[in-house]
Amino acid sequence: MKKNILITGGAGFIGSHVVRLFVTKYPDYHIFNLDALTYAGNPENLKDIENAPNYTFVKGDITDEKFVPVLFKTHNFDGVIHLAAESHVDRSITDPFAFIRTNVFGTCNLLNAAKNAWKENYEGKRFYHISTDEVYGALEFDGSFFTEETSYDPHSPYSASKASSDHFVRAWHDTYGLPVVVSNCSNNYGANHFPEKLIPLAIHNIKNNKPIPVYGKGENVRDWLWVNDHARAIDLIFHKGINGETYNIGGHNEWTNIDLIKKLCEIMDRKLGREPGTSAQLINFVKDRAGHDLRYAIDASKLQRELGWEPSLQFEEGLDKTVDWYLSNQEWLDNVTSGNYQKYYASQYEER
Ligand code: NAD
Ligand code: TYD
Repeated sequence: MKKNILITGGAGFIGSHVVRLFVTKYPDYHIFNLDALTYAGNPENLKDIENAPNYTFVKGDITDEKFVPVLFKTHNFDGVIHLAAESHVDRSITDPFAFIRTNVFGTCNLLNAAKNAWKENYEGKRFYHISTDEVYGALEFDGSFFTEETSYDPHSPYSASKASSDHFVRAWHDTYGLPVVVSNCSNNYGANHFPEKLIPLAIHNIKNNKPIPVYGKGENVRDWLWVNDHARAIDLIFHKGINGETYNIGGHNEWTNIDLIKKLCEIMDRKLGREPGTSAQLINFVKDRAGHDLRYAIDASKLQRELGWEPSLQFEEGLDKTVDWYLSNQEWLDNVTSGNYQKYYASQYEER
C-alpha cells in the first residue's frame, strides 16, 4: 500500500540504518528523511540510496514551529518514525540546553504537528518515538533488568531529556488520542557510528595508536545490540506494535567497558597483524564521567513474546563485522574525524 513516511534523524547513526531498511524493503513507501545535519548527521551514511525514487532528503530542524506543520501539510504523512535527537551523554553534561531544545521541544513540536494534521481521522496513522533504556536510570550488579514497567529515574541531562520526551509522547496519546508507540533500546553498535561513542572511538584510536580513554575503572556495564537488529525491531514495532504500548529492545549482552575494550584490542591485533597484547597497551584509565550510570540491562521478552523479535547476531560476530567495516571505510572515518563531511555537504544541502 502506498504510504508517505517521515523519518526524523535519518542522517545519523541508527536513523540511516532505518532509512535504508525502509527504502529498500518497502518500494511502495515514500520515505522523507527530515534531518538538521548537526555534527552527528552525515548524508554520506546514505550515499547508496540517496537517488532511490522513493527517498527524499529534507534539511530542516524538528524544533522549527513554522516549517514542521507545513511539511506535514505538504506530504500528508501516514506515519512518523522519530529518531532525531542530541544523543551523546558527555555533550549533554557540557551543553544541556541543546538536549532540552531538540529532545523535548522538538519532539513536542512533531507531536503537535502530527495531531493537527491527523485529528480529523487517526485511522491508519502512527507516531513512533524511538527512545533509550537510559530513561530507567542505573541498575546494580544484581542480575536485575529494565522492564517496560520499571519506573523512570534518569540521571544525565541526555536521559532526562529523553525521559521527558517519552512522557510527552504518552501525554499526546492519553490527552488527544494520538496513535503512538514507544520503544526503549539499549546501546547500539555497528557501521556509521559517530566516533565520539565508545566502540568507534576505540577502533579509531587503536588503529592510529592513540590512547583509549576508559572512564573510571571501566567497571560500568552496557547491554550492546547490533544496530541492524535495532532497525529490524523498529520495522516490526512500526508495523505490528499496539498503539499506546512500549517495547524494550536489547541484546541480552552485557559487557563491562574494560572487558569490551580488551576484546576489541584482541580483534584489532588480529586484523592489523599486531603481536597479541599490543593494542591493549593503549588502554588509558581517565577521570570518570559525572553521574556515570553503573549498569544497563534490558529485558526484551515482551518484544520476543508478542512480536517474535530476537537479535540475529552473536556479539563477537557483530564486533568482528563492525571492525571490518571501520577498517574498510577509512575515508568515512577520516571525513568524520576531520570535519570534512560537514564542509562538503554544506554546499550540497542549502538551508531551506
Ligand atoms: P545520532 O546522534 O547519531 O543521530 C541523530 C540525528 O538527528 C543526526 O542525523 C542529527 O543531524 C539529527 N538531529 C539532531 N538534532 C536535530 C534537530 N533539531 N532537527 C532535526 N534533526 C536533528 O543519534 P543515534 O545514536 O542514531 O540515535 C538515534 C535515536 O535513537 C535517538 O533518539 C537516541 O536517543 C535513540 N537511541 C540511541 C541509542 C544508541 O545507542 N545510539 C540507543 C537507544 C536509543
Ligand atoms: P557511550 O558510547 O558514550 O554510550 P552511553 O553513555 O550512552 O552508554 O559510552 C558507553 C560506555 O563507555 C559508558 O559507560 C561510558 C564509557 N566510555 C568510556 O569509558 N570512554 C569513552 O571515551 C566513552 C566515549 C565512553
